[in-house]
Amino acid sequence: MRNLEEIKNKALVEIEKASDLLDLEKIWRKYLGRKKGEITKILRNIRNLPEKERPLVGKKANEVKEIVKSAIDKKKIKLISQKEIKFEKIDITRPGKKIKYGHFHPLTLIKNQVRDIFYSMGFEILEGPEIETDYYNFEALNMPEGHPARDFWDTFYLKEKTFKKTKLLLRTHTSPMQIRVMEKKKPPLRVCVIGKCFRREATDASHEHTLYQIEGFAVDENISVANLIYTLKSFLSNLFNQKVEIRLRPSYFPFVEPGFELDVRCLNCLGKGCPVCSYTGWVETLGCGMIHPKVFEAVDYPKDKYTGFAFGIGLDRLAMMKYKINDIRWFHSGDLRFIRQF
Ligand code: DAH
Repeated sequence: MRNLEEIKNKALVEIEKASDLLDLEKIWRKYLGRKKGEITKILRNIRNLPEKERPLVGKKANEVKEIVKSAIDKKKIKLISQKEIKFEKIDITRPGKKIKYGHFHPLTLIKNQVRDIFYSMGFEILEGPEIETDYYNFEALNMPEGHPARDFWDTFYLKEKTFKKTKLLLRTHTSPMQIRVMEKKKPPLRVCVIGKCFRREATDASHEHTLYQIEGFAVDENISVANLIYTLKSFLSNLFNQKVEIRLRPSYFPFVEPGFELDVRCLNCLGKGCPVCSYTGWVETLGCGMIHPKVFEAVDYPKDKYTGFAFGIGLDRLAMMKYKINDIRWFHSGDLRFIRQF
């Protein structure tokens, strides 16, 4: 018995002193090894002891065995965790891993700004369907079948699909929303629609098959060109954060009369002449005009009661002006070198 107590103490001291797993392995073999382990030998020898001593020695030997075993296990855990700490070095001076945040596409950025400005001016913000009928995209906007102006808005037609007997197509502009809104609502109206449009284009630096347009219109009694000019000037000055100078030139759009092209004094050279404005001092920015009586007729508004202005702006073009982008094709290129600049 005393022998067992000594063995136990010796083993515990050795375990305590063990400095690595190899040491521990040796200790385990020395005391608990299946053939030569000191404690194992005592246990195996029990049957040779006088019968009276057997249970006592057996009990004690098993106790010692368990104590030594669990001491080895504990030490093993300690050694392993120390080893991990020793190998894990933390260099707090190293730069951290950069967390990459997503961000808005430049078109979304400008779209949100446009929306907020018109909203602040009392305009209702609406969206409309990207698949349109021939009726809304052309006919109701004073472009009946065969009208030559349709050529400016050549588009993609949906194969053999018709809706209420008119052809389905991808809308070429957001102007159809004038009709959709006026069919449902009576003036006064102040509406801004921002959305995706499509055209059959030979693409180049300023033409894309997929583009975004802002359509704005106001209908009421006594709306005039002065209201149109004021609204657009305020909008553009607000968007570009500077007082913007504009001019109107007569132009033709079937759904307005009179129709205008609005130019902005070049923001790059302030009118002196530069490559951005092709040395003219002005940048063609949008189309606008007074809503044509034929359009009011299409929505059954009473004759001569209301007047209204309407305008259509390419959102891509505004983004190009604001962020100084030289090619419209960048927007849908999916090129991260471009996107990451915003
Ligand atoms: N919808 C025209 C286009 O796509 C733009 C436009 C011009 C809209 C004049 C208007 C307008 O409302 O009055 O080119």
